[in-house]
Amino acid sequence: PTMTFIMKDGTPKVVDAPNGLSVMEIAQKHDIEQIEGACGGSLACATCHVYVHPDWWDKVLPDTGDVSMEEEDMLDLAFDLQKTSRLSCQIMMRDELDGLVVALPGSNP
Ligand code: FES
Repeated sequence: PTMTFIMKDGTPKVVDAPNGLSVMEIAQKHDIEQIEGACGGSLACATCHVYVHPDWWDKVLPDTGDVSMEEEDMLDLAFDLQKTSRLSCQIMMRDELDGLVVALPGSNP
């Protein structure tokens, strides 16, 4: 699959997105430095914050159908929180997410 990151200046960056990697890991693989992923995906930082494109919101929710409490708590610490904010280390790539679009904080959500 592939996915798109909307950079801060609004430029879309389409990247190769291997199944099984988190969106945070995919960003790191493609040197998108704004997504730092400081805690390595263990829900202990908010440096992997992204805005999910509204069309994709439901599709990237966990199987429980809701963002976990742990993720919500950590998101509260994220800079420039928006309605479709998620922590990108909690979104795992799979075939159904081919074409996923997320935007970096600071861009227009
Ligand atoms: Fe730290 Fe996602 S990388 S919460």
